[in-house]
Amino acid sequence: MNIYEAMEHRRSRYALDANTTVSDERIEEIVGECLVQTPSAFNSQTARVVALFGESHAKLWSIVMETLRARVPADKFAGTEAKVNGFAAAHATLLFFEETDTVKALQEQFPSYADNFPLWSLQASGMAQVNVWTALSSEGLGVNIQHYNPIIDDEVARTFDVPASWKLISQMVVGNPVAEPGPIAKKPVSERLVVRR
Ligand SMILES: Cc1cc2nc3c(=O)[nH]c(=O)nc-3n(C[C@H](O)[C@H](O)[C@H](O)COP(=O)(O)O)c2cc1C
Repeated sequence: MNIYEAMEHRRSRYALDANTTVSDERIEEIVGECLVQTPSAFNSQTARVVALFGESHAKLWSIVMETLRARVPADKFAGTEAKVNGFAAAHATLLFFEETDTVKALQEQFPSYADNFPLWSLQASGMAQVNVWTALSSEGLGVNIQHYNPIIDDEVARTFDVPASWKLISQMVVGNPVAEPGPIAKKPVSERLVVRR
């Protein structure tokens, strides 16, 4: 796949099972390569990933399930339960974090940019996430991203022994795609791209 085909192939895939044909080692290798190659403000390299496979993947989705069960009214929980079970049925979850001590140090070192560093940190996280999403999709894996943070943050940090300075940004679900996503509406490029000469 060339880069444009890979970008087009990157979709949110929700119908996933655990029977992936790509090895866990290969997934680790791809995530590592994407972390290394993704740019960041001042080359601060604040993106972090905790890759959850096997029991750890299952544990994450049980944390999400129980956290939501405590908040969603019981008579409305069936839909939530089915959704979370769908993520648990996938193969792995990549937890994306940003390392905030480095962000704070940059804010102190460069006070005139202080307000920008947290925004740049999130931008760089997004770049890392889309690189991983695109790369894994191009290998035939199905991927979607979820945001159950911040309500799961404390328990995730305790359970997976995550350093206190790592802030949870997203949960990327990875599995074997069992159905293709439907077509998606795209606005005309002419509405979104303006050229001045
Ligand atoms: C910053 C960002 C946050 C998103 N958050 C969620 C989310 O919490 N749950 C979810 O199911 N999809 C989430 N998505 C996926 C988008 O809904 C999806 O990318 C968009 O509708 C386009 O569809 P596509 O990914 O198939 O191209 C998110 C996407 C982005 C870029």
